[in-house]
Amino acid sequence: MISRIRALHRELAPDDQAYELVLTHCEIVWAVAEQLVHARGLEVDVELVRAGCLVHDVGVHLLAGSPYIRHGVLGARALLERGFPAELARFCAHHTGVGLTREDIERQNLPLPAGDYLAETAEERLVMYADKFHSKSTPPVFVTAATYASRIGRFGAGPAARFAEMVAYYGEPDLTELTARYPHAVL
Ligand SMILES: [Fe+2]
Repeated sequence: MISRIRALHRELAPDDQAYELVLTHCEIVWAVAEQLVHARGLEVDVELVRAGCLVHDVGVHLLAGSPYIRHGVLGARALLERGFPAELARFCAHHTGVGLTREDIERQNLPLPAGDYLAETAEERLVMYADKFHSKSTPPVFVTAATYASRIGRFGAGPAARFAEMVAYYGEPDLTELTARYPHAVL
């Protein structure tokens, strides 16, 4: 499955730079998740978490000018069209922010089909959480829990509280260990 996912990034990426940027981010999210699994002794399907991390942002390649928030649904559709299992496609559509509810979509008038896009399984929750600690900005950076908390505060008390709950449950990853492997700055 992992090699199929890498091949999918290769197929969908518009150029080498996008391929490198997005796949490296996905690998870093896996490194964060793997570290949390071991540090907290989490009982999850580790191979599913790994596949979920590697695939979660594949839809970024398909944006072609669409609003960024659509990358999740675009990625999920691309996976389903190619016969990937639905449980894997869900990682694409269900990792944005700390989850999007039908209400969030209506209130912020987001360009997404009505519905809830929440991480539901233990594996989906872990991928969503791990994703918050690295950003595909130029240049890419690691993000501390404090920095992410201050960003998400803009989206209201609900999302901020959902993130705080996850920090309390998972703890914070050791970014020092990760920056030794991936030399990106920490914001
Ligand atoms: Fe991501």
